This record gives sequence, C-alpha cells and structure tokens, in this order.
Amino acid sequence: MKVLVVLSVCCLSGILGQISNKKFPESFQFGAATAAYQIEGAWNEDGKGESMWDRFVHEDPTRIKDGQNGDVACDSYHKWREDIELLKELGVTLYRFSISWPRILPDGTPSQINQAGIDYYRTFIKALKEAGIEPMVTLYHWDLPQHLAELGGWLNEEIADYFGDYARIAFRSFGEDVKLWATINEPKTTCMNGYGSGEMAPGLKLLADGVYQCAKVQLLAHAKAYHIYHDEFAAQQGGKISIVIDATYNEPASDSDLDKFGAELETEFNLGWYANPVYIGDWPELMKTRIANRSQLEGYSFSRLAEFTPEEVQYVKGTFDYFALNMYTSLVAHYSGDFGIGEPSYYLDKGTSTSYGADWTPSIASWLYSYPPGMRKLLNLVWTKYNPSSIYVTENGWATDTSLNDQGRIDYLQAYLSNLLEAILEDGVNVAGYTTWSLLDNFEWAQGYTQRFGIISVDFDSPNRTRTFKDSGRWYQKVVATRCLTD
Ligand code: NOJ
Repeated sequence: MKVLVVLSVCCLSGILGQISNKKFPESFQFGAATAAYQIEGAWNEDGKGESMWDRFVHEDPTRIKDGQNGDVACDSYHKWREDIELLKELGVTLYRFSISWPRILPDGTPSQINQAGIDYYRTFIKALKEAGIEPMVTLYHWDLPQHLAELGGWLNEEIADYFGDYARIAFRSFGEDVKLWATINEPKTTCMNGYGSGEMAPGLKLLADGVYQCAKVQLLAHAKAYHIYHDEFAAQQGGKISIVIDATYNEPASDSDLDKFGAELETEFNLGWYANPVYIGDWPELMKTRIANRSQLEGYSFSRLAEFTPEEVQYVKGTFDYFALNMYTSLVAHYSGDFGIGEPSYYLDKGTSTSYGADWTPSIASWLYSYPPGMRKLLNLVWTKYNPSSIYVTENGWATDTSLNDQGRIDYLQAYLSNLLEAILEDGVNVAGYTTWSLLDNFEWAQGYTQRFGIISVDFDSPNRTRTFKDSGRWYQKVVATRCLTD
C-alpha cells in the first residue's frame, strides 16, 4: 500500500526565526484583489452611468495628488482577458474584484438596467471560473452612482433601499457562479474621508455629523443586502456574504492602565465601530458613552453618534457568514490627557517601519507603516472577539514607486504572511484565504497614480497599459506554487 507523506515543513533556509518555514494548509486560498474604479477605466462606455468618483475627479482635478483620474486606469474593462492570464500565471485560486454599480444601474435605481454591464461581468465571471479561479465579488467599492450621491448619498437612509435593489439584481445575475460576496468595502474609510474630511468622493466636509450618519446608513445597506441574499437566494445558490472591515492592530504604548485604555479606545473606534454592530449588536459601548458625553459638552441635546433603534440593532446583528478583514498596519496607542472625549488617541510608531515617503494625509495613515506582528495579533483578536467561522484577509499590501525591483514589498508580504500562517497553525485561527492588494498597480484614490500597490506593474504612459511582473509578483507566484515562504 502506498503511503502518502504530506510534508508540512518547507526548506530550512531563509530567515529562520523571523519567517515561518511551515507550509500553508492545502485548503488555504491564495488570491489577489482589485476594485472597479481603480482598474476598469471605460468610465462612460457601453451605457455605464456616472459615479460620484467620476464627478469628483472631473469637477476638480486638483483633488487628486497628480491631477489624474480613473477614466482609463488599467483599462481592465477591455483588457480583462489579459488580467485572467496574469492570475493564471500567478497560480492563484481566488480573485477579489468589485462590480461597478453604475455600470449595471446607470442612475443607481432599478428603473433602468444596463444589459451590457450585466453581460460584461457575466462573461468575466464565467471566464474566471473556467480558469479555475473563484470569484469573490464586492458589491460596493466606493463608486456610488452620481444620481444617488445627489439624493444625499450615504447620508440618506433611502440609499440603503437602493443598495438592496442593486444587490438583488447582482445576486440574480451572477449568483449561480459567485459563492463569496462582500457587500461594502471599508465603510470606515469612505465615511471618514468622503463625508468627514472631504478628501475622497463626494468630498463633503461634514466632520462628525457626516461620518456617523454615513456609518449608520452603510451598515443598514449592508444588512439589507445580507437579508435579501439569505431570504431569496442562499438556499439555491449556497454562497456566503459579509462586509469588508478595515482595521489596524493597536498596541498599547506602555504597560500603564491608561495606555491600555488608549489602545482599547482606538480598537473600538476603529475595528469595533463597524464590527460590533454586525457581529455583536449595536455600536461599542465606549463609543456610545464617549460621543454622548462629548456631544453634551458641545451643547447638543442629543448624541452626535447616529443611534440605531432597537429594531435596527437586531436587523444589523448577525449579518455575516465570514469575516472579511483588510489589514495593512498597526498603531501604537496611548492615552493623552488633553485628548478630547469621543476620539481615540494614537500616534504612529515610525520606529518599527519604513515607508515609501508619501505625504501624510488621514487616508494613507492606514497603510504607511509596516508592523508584521500586528497581523497575527489582529487575527487573534478578531477570532476571539467576533467568533466568525472563518476569516478572509481581503486586503494587505505595500505601496512603492514604479520600480519592478520591489524587495521592500517582498519583505512586507513575506513577514505579514508568516504571521498569518502562525495564526493559523499555532493559534488555531481559521484564515481561509488571502487576497493581496493588489494584482495591478492602479488608481490609488486621492493619491492618483503616485502610490503603486501592484505585484504586477502597469505602464500608465503606454496606450496599451502594458503589464509586467514585478519581483514581488514572481515571488508570490512561487509562494502560491510551493505554499512556502522560505526557499
Ligand atoms: C483600501 C481600499 O479598499 C483600496 O481601494 C485601496 O487602494 C487600498 N486600501 C490602499 O489604500
């Protein structure tokens, strides 16, 4: 009788001690991620409607660091076959991408369905599956139809109903082939930067009032899509659905109780803000009390945190089939006395990191520093606090300049993946898959094309948008093939 010996250890060379030499389990899915507005281009082709990002960049190009936009981006709308070839060459079995809402519903409502948009994604999804790659589809990666932005966007609770209508059409059109759905990507980022600081579309600078209202509407929209999926589709289609939450790991600056409290505060205002309503029910208590206290001090007769009714708490609670986590960096949290009630206190630990040197703005603080142990710690925290049946790391990556020799990215990915692997093998966290950000260099929102996250480069000066593997792409290809992080 033949005995199959499965080697669970990789070669012993490499940077032992720092990088795990164990093997990734066979069931673990390696993948890559992108988003429609950042790669597709074809912003007004084949019946696609205008999105709030189209409007934001066209109205005032100075909003974007290099004055650029996503009109053409990687031209993936036309070059999708090539993208699938690249995914095949990488050997990945999972591809996370998003559907452009206005490509399917030009004004965001079901009053007009753009069949060309449906056909485009249908063909793409079928081709992916034929290539042996599982689609993981994000319904909303920030490109709200402009018409809905004009109705108040994510400040208007009606948008949650429109999102439900759109989700239903997507489930009906693609659900036979899509078994992994994500409703909304990083609600924190879009609410803070789109409705708080105004750095991203739709560019509203409403500070706390905008941010908290947007958070509530996005969670209601997510819950609506979740319920529609489970009430109308899950039984026949058998897929899973969740929301993508971005978070940092927050390390207390010292052993002092105050710094530990600072870290807890930061975690609640960061991860808990969106995870608690979905996984536990309602906003974190710490948020509720601190924002209520601060609102009172500011003379308000109500809390500026947009509260959920008891019915809404129940409606949002439990709307997950897995945990989708975007993770790039960690913060060192401390509690400072002069710090205003209602906001978390932290500083970025520049000591543990290198950065590509982007100008600091709030939206990039979430990915500027490398702290690999934070990955393992955060996975453990999510696993024990929120108790999901599985976790997918739906984004993790490193920005560089245009260079193809991107050793910095390899170091980052290797160390983060090593911590992820230890979380699986040593701590028993069920991390089912990982989609690195990003498959391609792409339009990095307010940073334009100045920050490159791709493991495959795109030449944005060539009309052909030529794609070329970077060193990190070749490295990742080997990791996927061997399931090893060491040679
Ligand atoms: C967050 C977003 O989901 C993605 O669109 C963005 O490009 C990366 N992280 C890097 O900022």
